[in-house]
Amino acid sequence: MSEISQAQPDYNYKVVRQFTIMTIIWGIVGMSLGVFIAAQLFAPALNFDIPWLTYSRLRPLHTNAVIFAFGGCALFATSYYIVQRTCQVRLFSDKLAQFTFWGWQAVIVAAVLTLPFGYTTSKEYAELEWPIDILIALVWVAYIINFFGTLAIRKVSHIYVANWFLGAFMLTVAVLHIGNSMALPVSFMKSYSLYAGAVDAMMQWWYGHNAVGFFLTAGFLGMMYYFVPKQAGRPVYSYRLSVVHFWALISLYIWAGPHHLHYTALPDWTQSLGMVMSVILFVPSWGGMINGIMTLSGAWHKLRTDPVLRFLIVSLSFYGMSTFEGPMMAIKTVNALSHYTDWTVGHVHSGALGWVAMVSIGSIYHLIPHLFGQKAMYSTKLVNVHFWFATIGVVLYIVAMWMSGVLQGLMWRAVNADGTLTYSFVESLEASKPFYVVRFVGGCFVVAGMLIMAYNTYRTVSAPKGSLVPEPAAA
Ligand code: HEM
Ligand code: HEM
Repeated sequence: MSEISQAQPDYNYKVVRQFTIMTIIWGIVGMSLGVFIAAQLFAPALNFDIPWLTYSRLRPLHTNAVIFAFGGCALFATSYYIVQRTCQVRLFSDKLAQFTFWGWQAVIVAAVLTLPFGYTTSKEYAELEWPIDILIALVWVAYIINFFGTLAIRKVSHIYVANWFLGAFMLTVAVLHIGNSMALPVSFMKSYSLYAGAVDAMMQWWYGHNAVGFFLTAGFLGMMYYFVPKQAGRPVYSYRLSVVHFWALISLYIWAGPHHLHYTALPDWTQSLGMVMSVILFVPSWGGMINGIMTLSGAWHKLRTDPVLRFLIVSLSFYGMSTFEGPMMAIKTVNALSHYTDWTVGHVHSGALGWVAMVSIGSIYHLIPHLFGQKAMYSTKLVNVHFWFATIGVVLYIVAMWMSGVLQGLMWRAVNADGTLTYSFVESLEASKPFYVVRFVGGCFVVAGMLIMAYNTYRTVSAPKGSLVPEPAAA
């Protein structure tokens, strides 16, 4: 599986390099914000009585920064790389590529400038106000034209499965974003949703859940289907399974949104439908995970020496874990316990940190040497140290949240013989405090790992071209 072919087309790696570097930078910013708000949850004085440092304003900045800035840049970088390599052709348009890069950075800077100052639509994961929404739509349409344009001019007849996932992610995100952001502007920075009441809630969670399904899952599965076989040096375990995985996943995900609205004003049958679809979703999710992990069959020994492969395979394990947990939490009786508790936050981060961040980090470690004319990263040992920091950090985070979440759920529902509540809300908060400290420590591990990655990347990028070669395998 040599990367060098005799007559390699003149690929556009500039935009891939730009997005790759920004992935690392926004990763550090977004995750550091996560650590800061994690600290505020056990030390509220950390808002220093400054409005723009309050938890309520920084929390959406964290979610936007990690999902759209860190995750988004990782998706742009890898999709532009994958589509060129698998179609054996340069990107359809360099100008559109540059527009998407600068446009996306402008969206992120706009988020940083507006969210802390309280400009928000208050719709989760869609907080940005209408002028920024329009910019997002423009950038996204340019992205779609460039991606599908590249597919249209491809030199190979086959469209590799990673591109199917990436294409579905792009199209669906466009529909979700435009559909959910429909609003009536009343001033430059204020608008009201076009939907009202329960309909607004359903639109919001149709968007919210499919942002998870298509932005945080389908796009990263596209990444997985390219980088896992590449890094393992083996073809994907079952191509047929990958195609079944694709169709099953995209046809099921879109129905599952109502599991975010159990026991609300949403009609009961809608909630039950969402629950059933979520439970079935377990099957294609695990099909995909197994397909990824089994790609290593016959090459398991590589895990011993290759930390990049470890990132990719461990990310798939977290994917499997969160897509087992999600369907369970979608069952109404389980949701009655988990909803509003830290269990949800634990689930989110086993998906977001364990799956999304780790698969991105692994893919980027694979990419960097290719993009900057090297045969290896500056230090494989540091990649390994990063791997352990990330793994320990994620495990500390999610285990703490599971314990805190179940504890909260049980304390809130405990009643005395006379029907009064056994615990006050403040007592449940006090019980959660030690877990918040553990989550903070886990977050520090994750950010420390990202800083190591930044240093390793800096040394790789600044080394003379071609001077870095793979280190001998560690014993
Ligand atoms: C150092 C790493 C991270 C830390 C310390 C961290 C911390 C936090 C904290 C404290 C919250 C608020 C929880 C609450 O309101 O109770 C949160 C929410 C959230 N974070 Fe992170 N986070 C990290 C990384 C990430 C990453 C990489 C992603 C996505 C790719 C992510 C996505 C989210 C989402 C979606 C929420 C909202 C959860 C919900 O509404 O249930 N986080 N994070
Ligand atoms: C089969 C797959 C999955 C199912 C059925 C599922 C189901 C669920 C359920 C039932 C909730 C709790 C809703 C509530 O009580 O409010 C939830 C929350 C969430 N899940 Fe998943 N999940 C799945 C996979 C994932 C993955 C892989 C990720 C991340 C990459 C993820 C990210 C989230 C986020 C961000 C939330 C919190 C939304 C919010 O309240 O802000 N999920 N999921």
